[in-house]
Amino acid sequence: MAQVVLKEVVKAYDDVVAVDEVSLTIGDGEFVSLVGPSGCGKTTTLNLIAGLIEITDGTISVDDKVINDLDPKDRDIAMVFQNYALYPNKNVFDNLAFPLKMRKMSKSDIDARVRQTAEILSITPLLKRRPRELSGGQQQRVALGRALVRNPKVFLMDEPLSNLDAKLRVQMRSELKRFHTELSATVIYVTHDQLEAMTMSDKIAVMSESRLQQFGTPDDIYGHPANIFVAGFVGSPSMNLLRGRVSRDNGITYVTGPDFRVGLTGRNQALADASSGEVVVGCRPGDCRITHETSTTGFAAAIHTVEPTGDITFLHLRTGNAMLIATVTPDFPARVDDQVWVTFDNERLHLFDGASEQRISA
Ligand SMILES: Nc1ncnc2c1ncn2[C@@H]1O[C@H](COP(=O)(O)OP(=O)(O)OP(=O)(O)O)[C@@H](O)[C@H]1O
Ligand SMILES: [Mg+2]
Repeated sequence: MAQVVLKEVVKAYDDVVAVDEVSLTIGDGEFVSLVGPSGCGKTTTLNLIAGLIEITDGTISVDDKVINDLDPKDRDIAMVFQNYALYPNKNVFDNLAFPLKMRKMSKSDIDARVRQTAEILSITPLLKRRPRELSGGQQQRVALGRALVRNPKVFLMDEPLSNLDAKLRVQMRSELKRFHTELSATVIYVTHDQLEAMTMSDKIAVMSESRLQQFGTPDDIYGHPANIFVAGFVGSPSMNLLRGRVSRDNGITYVTGPDFRVGLTGRNQALADASSGEVVVGCRPGDCRITHETSTTGFAAAIHTVEPTGDITFLHLRTGNAMLIATVTPDFPARVDDQVWVTFDNERLHLFDGASEQRISA
């Protein structure tokens, strides 16, 4: 397996820059997910690594060897696409054997490799079937097998589960994770599904508008988002973000907006005091404390809607023009238009600079 390094990689078309100075180091055997809104450059990044499109600037290396000018077939990288189109007239065995035949491998070697791959993916009983005689999940496994059979250094996967229904996705998610652990393969995985990225990855790269916004472990990305974009993009429901000014009242530091006031203590107080004065304060729905009693570090809000989901209930709250989401236990007495108090947990709130939108940290 292999380490993949992208250094200031650029892909420019006539009128768009699809990938803008992206630098990433993907360690040997790591599972890295690439996430971001539609059009942010995820597929383009994979295509550049695979060599399917030409790089405009920067370098891509595998194990310290620059591969910019290497032909895709010489890169030893396998790509699994969202539309995995198996050959409809070939059975599973021949679908798996095809990439090896193309490489002129001997018949007995092909046979051994196909059977070994089929074992790993638990599709041995299906080897004689045609694709149309398989379920979606089985077809997906065959597609994966077609990449796996070549035993490449690096796997690139572009939303490989997005054609599957919700239940199958969960099942395949766990199979992919197991497959990665067993093979200790280097995998670069594009997904729209945050839960997939959070649960499967060693590291996540968040992209927006062709640029890399943050690269870190799922815990880093979720617990210490580098900027307002990452804060709002990762997590569902999204982090509450309120823009205000730093003010002091009776020795207490607050972030104050037109319709809210968040009291800051300890470390947050020091960070806000040292800031430019215009900040955005963020708090995940699960880190907002909701009470019927007033709170000196909190602010009042009205219940807009109540969404019970079973284990937890989401409260949509209105304060002036701002909307917030908070979670409460199902037994919390909540009625539409009730007034409640919202307190952001100071241990878990996030501060961003209002102008640069970057995280404020010591
Ligand atoms: N051949 C091309 N010529 C011109 N622009 C292109 C070309 N291919 C992609 N783009 C543009 O580059 C940007 C990034 O595209 P890309 O396919 O990488 O996005 P993505 O992150 O994979 O999006 P999605 O989540 O929708 O698949 C988009 O603005 C797209 O329109
Ligand atoms: Mg794409």
